[in-house]
Amino acid sequence: MTPTPVSKKVCVIGSGYVGLTTAVCFAHLGHDVTCTDIDADRVARLSAGECPILEHGLPELLAEGLASGRLDFSTDNAAAAAAAEFTYLCVPTPQGDDGSADLSYIPAAATEIGPHVEARSVVVNKSTVPVGSTLVVERALGRSDVFVVSNPEFLREGTAVHDFLHPDRVVVGAADRSAAMRVAELYDGIGATLIITDPPSAETIKYAANAFLATKLSFVNAVAAVCEAVGADMNDVVVGIGSDRRIGHEFLKPGPGWGGSCFPKDSRALVRIAEDAGYKFDLLEGVIAVNLEQFDRVAARAVEMVGGSVAGATLAVWGLTFKARTDDLRDSPSLEVIARLRAAGAHVRAYDPSMPDGVVPGSKAAALDGIEVVADPYDACDGAALLLVLTEWDEFRWLDIDALGDRLAERRILDGRNLLDREALVREGFAYRGIGRS
Ligand code: UDX
Repeated sequence: MTPTPVSKKVCVIGSGYVGLTTAVCFAHLGHDVTCTDIDADRVARLSAGECPILEHGLPELLAEGLASGRLDFSTDNAAAAAAAEFTYLCVPTPQGDDGSADLSYIPAAATEIGPHVEARSVVVNKSTVPVGSTLVVERALGRSDVFVVSNPEFLREGTAVHDFLHPDRVVVGAADRSAAMRVAELYDGIGATLIITDPPSAETIKYAANAFLATKLSFVNAVAAVCEAVGADMNDVVVGIGSDRRIGHEFLKPGPGWGGSCFPKDSRALVRIAEDAGYKFDLLEGVIAVNLEQFDRVAARAVEMVGGSVAGATLAVWGLTFKARTDDLRDSPSLEVIARLRAAGAHVRAYDPSMPDGVVPGSKAAALDGIEVVADPYDACDGAALLLVLTEWDEFRWLDIDALGDRLAERRILDGRNLLDREALVREGFAYRGIGRS
């Protein structure tokens, strides 16, 4: 039986994907949480129970926290941190132009709350931050009577709430062991493996985990290229290698490449962190290079399937987000492939289940500029020379093959996620290409 946590006062600075998930889950565990953001409109909408992020379970926990009185929102970082025993920094660490992480939000938040936090309170870094950032926060706080702890997040988009409440491990990095244990006790009731270490190790665990997962995916996509060259079937190859327990079946799906708000940023940041520390991380640079090649390979395959040129052709795309069950377009492999095809002269008409009415939200207009977004997957196929499936939304599995064949100008499918039934499509006269499947 895992202990239930003693309720603590927690301030979470930043109500983005990590901050909001952290805030509602800590409230769910019984803590008293104030979540802050600089965006007053966002704070007002959250206070009214409106959830701005598509995450399974998040709206329900937001409502639960507000109803219980254990969760509230504010724009006042200083007041919220002053009243809390723990202040979580969940501010963005976006990618800088040179590949390094833009850390400016972290010291800015620490400088702001430094004069206000209680003595012996704990400031916790949950944002993904380069090794050594704990020292940056300590300096920015300008105090020696406050503990700084690293508690990195391992949340996957689409399953963030589940991943927070059922983590494979909780990692806590602190120079002071009692401060580490105080943070660890916030997670009482979760019953996960607890790893207590020093701050540099905790920060390195986060980057190394993401870099290893990206490495696994680039390896899988490279093996898929070999399969195409030697006539092997990647679907069978991944079963064959994944049955080795040391490899496992997770994260072995070939695709158009990997993307999202973490892998691209964190892999480049780790290369830069290593370089700054005097180590040239050639392997990880290769992983990134293979990923960029994968975008090129999938686009080149589409051009090949339509006869060598897409100039003036209409291409249908199913799936714009970087992966299924999220509405996030950041560093989406689908958009990378589309950009290459549009540069070759194609007109792209796309459908994505995260925009079921075909209306592009203002926040996504720039990312989707030049792409015709429609409300129906079959409308996307009208007169198209080829259909590309680029995101693994479940609804694409149940496609009506006859309706599809009637709408496309040519019965051609490039299945960028090996999602579809190749045999059924070939029987209905489709030219089918997958990833690693000839
Ligand atoms: C990732 C890490 O998984 C998570 O632990 C970390 O905290 C944040 O970054 P996320 O970015 O949400 O999570 O996406 P993830 O589910 O890891 O997928 C990353 C990319 O890999 C996506 O583009 C996805 O489509 C791709 N992918 C994933 C594959 O191509 N094949 C797979 O088998 C799995």
